[in-house]
Amino acid sequence: MKIFAETERLILRELLPSDDKGMFELDSDKDVHKFLGNKPVENIQQSRDVIEFVRQQYIINGIGRWAVIEKKTNDFLGWAGLKLVKEETNNHSNFFDIGYRLIKKHWGKGFATESATASLDYGFKILQLETIYGAAESDHKASRKILEKIGLNYIETYDRETTPTDWFKITRQNCIDKKIYL
Ligand SMILES: CC(C)(COP(=O)(O)OP(=O)(O)OC[C@H]1O[C@@H](n2cnc3c(N)ncnc32)[C@H](O)[C@@H]1OP(=O)(O)O)[C@@H](O)C(=O)NCCC(=O)NCCS
Repeated sequence: MKIFAETERLILRELLPSDDKGMFELDSDKDVHKFLGNKPVENIQQSRDVIEFVRQQYIINGIGRWAVIEKKTNDFLGWAGLKLVKEETNNHSNFFDIGYRLIKKHWGKGFATESATASLDYGFKILQLETIYGAAESDHKASRKILEKIGLNYIETYDRETTPTDWFKITRQNCIDKKIYL
């Protein structure tokens, strides 16, 4: 089992087939999907397929979202991390996106911020990326707040289908200027 990063409270490791129940708890919750523009899953096989899809990304792209595990309890909290987005989004393609999605009972404890910080650190230090992007629906206050807290800059608002979505970015030069991550 590969561990990619560790924080004070969390382990960020590869998603495993055995995370299927946790992933189903996560993705079957309609509240989790409120700002995601898609529908909750309906059966655990869909969650198994997602895990397999992400594990393929590790091999093909060298990166994919990670499982977020609480050290104290060993609980699966959800996922966070970087993804290589190949398809066009807001006129960009083949870019690295920072994301996070946690099971509802674990919201409000700073876990998304903690895991996203470690993900950016990995992106700039280990993967040596030049730029990382993030996007959140304009009404998604919690996600916008996280992106800003971890150092991304708001660039513009675009329509994801018909939903206003805010586009954020952080560059290696921003990190040098702010003395973060590098
Ligand atoms: C978005 C999500 C990851 C946040 O997880 P979390 O662990 O609760 O986030 P954190 O505790 O690290 O940080 C959230 C921040 O937003 C703030 N916040 C939360 N709800 C807010 C609201 N309605 N208005 C303003 N700020 C809000 C919190 O106070 C916190 O900021 P603070 O630390 O400065 O107080 C979680 O709600 C989730 O998984 N949602 C479903 C999936 C999703 O929407 N993912 C993001 C897609 S863009």
